[in-house]
Amino acid sequence: MKASLDVFSAEPIPGAAQPEVKELLESGDLFRYTSDFGSSVSNLEMEFSEFMGVSFSLAVNSCSSALFLALKAIGLEPGSKVLIPAFTFAAVPSAVVHAGCLPVLVNVSDNYRIRLDEFENKLSEDVGAVIISHMRGHTSDMDVICRLCEERDVPLIEDAAHSLGTTWSGQKIGTLGRIGCFSFQSYKLINSGEGGMLVSNDADIMARATIMSGAYEHNWKKHPGMNGRFSFWQNKLPVFNMRMSNITAAIVRPQIKEVARRVKEGRVNHDYVAKLLNDSEWLHVPPSLDKELRAPDSIQFNLCGFESDADAEAFQRRVGEKGVEVKIIGLSEDNARAFWNWKFISQQNDLLPTKSMLMRACDVRLPVRLKKEDLDYIAAVIVEAADEVKGVSCLAD
Ligand SMILES: Cc1ncc(COP(=O)(O)O)c(C=O)c1O
Repeated sequence: MKASLDVFSAEPIPGAAQPEVKELLESGDLFRYTSDFGSSVSNLEMEFSEFMGVSFSLAVNSCSSALFLALKAIGLEPGSKVLIPAFTFAAVPSAVVHAGCLPVLVNVSDNYRIRLDEFENKLSEDVGAVIISHMRGHTSDMDVICRLCEERDVPLIEDAAHSLGTTWSGQKIGTLGRIGCFSFQSYKLINSGEGGMLVSNDADIMARATIMSGAYEHNWKKHPGMNGRFSFWQNKLPVFNMRMSNITAAIVRPQIKEVARRVKEGRVNHDYVAKLLNDSEWLHVPPSLDKELRAPDSIQFNLCGFESDADAEAFQRRVGEKGVEVKIIGLSEDNARAFWNWKFISQQNDLLPTKSMLMRACDVRLPVRLKKEDLDYIAAVIVEAADEVKGVSCLAD
C-alpha cells in the first residue's frame, strides 16, 4: 500500500496576516466590539462587501451559523417549509431544523444540480424560503430558480460555502439571492479554520441577522448603514452568540486578495483532471453549465457501468490502496452528504433519483496547491482502479 497523497492540508496563510495577528495577540483586543470602530472584523466586513459588490456583510463563526441566521432574519413562522436540495451537507437541513422549520428535499440530477421541474412543483404556497446549496461548487440554473422565487415572492438563500469566486453570467454566486452564505472552514477557498459570512443588500434582514448574531445592547452602532432598522429591532429579537473573533478576521483579510489566483489555479487543476477521467469509459465528470464559471477545489465524477455496489466498493478500495482518497458519497459510512443519514429530519420517500446518483458519485479533494505530478498521479490511480475492477468483472462475466 502506498502512503496517502495529502489532499487535506491547505496553503500557508499569507505572511501579510502576521503583523495584524501579532498586534492582536499583544494587545489582547480579540473581541470585535471592544474598540468603537476599525476592529479587524469590521474591516473584514467592509472589504468583503466591496469584494462581493454588496451593501452589507456580517462576519460570523461558520457558514452553518450564517444559514441559521439567514432563516431567522427572514422571520419565518415556526413550522414553515424550506426547500433544500437532496444533495447537500448535513449543516443545511440542520440549520432549517434549528430555525424551527421543516426541510423539504428536492431531487438533484446526475450532474449534481437541482431538478427544476420538481423544484417548481414543490415551490408551493406554504414554502417559506428556499436554500440553494451550490454543492461542491456546482451551480444550479440560477436564472430559473431566481425567476420562480421572485414570481412567488419566496426568499432565496444561497449556500455558497463551496462557491466563493464562482460566477453565473458574470455575477458573483452568493449575490443572486436575497442572502448569500459563505464558509471559511479549512477545506474552503479561504481558510481560517472556522468562520463564515452572510451577505445581502437588504438592510432590514441584515439588521435582524446582526442583532441575533450577538450585537447586544448598542453594539450594532458599530455596523454602519442600518441605523434605522437597528433601532426598530432593538430588544425585540433573541440574541445568539455567533460572532467572529478579531484573530479569525485578521487571518481571512489577506486571503481575499488570493481568491482570484486560487480560483484560476483550482479551475485549471480541476479541468486537467476532468479531461483525464473523461477519457475513461467508466468515468464521467459532468460539465459545468454554460453560464457558470466554476471555482473548484474538489472534483466529482460518476462511475458508469458499475452495476453492483460490490464493484463500486472494490473501486473505492483499490484507489485507497494506491494512496488516493475517493469517497463514493452513498457508499462511505455515515457520509454527512447522504440524506438518509440525516436521521434528525423526517424522511421523504421520493428521493430515489438522488440516492441512485449518490451510490455512484465519487468525491475527491483537489486543493489548489497540488502540482501537475500530483494531479497526474490522482487521475492515473482512478482510471487504473476503474479498469482493474471492470476488467476483472468483465472477465468473470
Ligand atoms: C454545502 C455546505 N454548506 C454549508 C457548510 C457549513 O459550513 P461551516 O463548516 O462553515 O459551518 C458546509 C461545510 O462543509 C457545506 O459543505
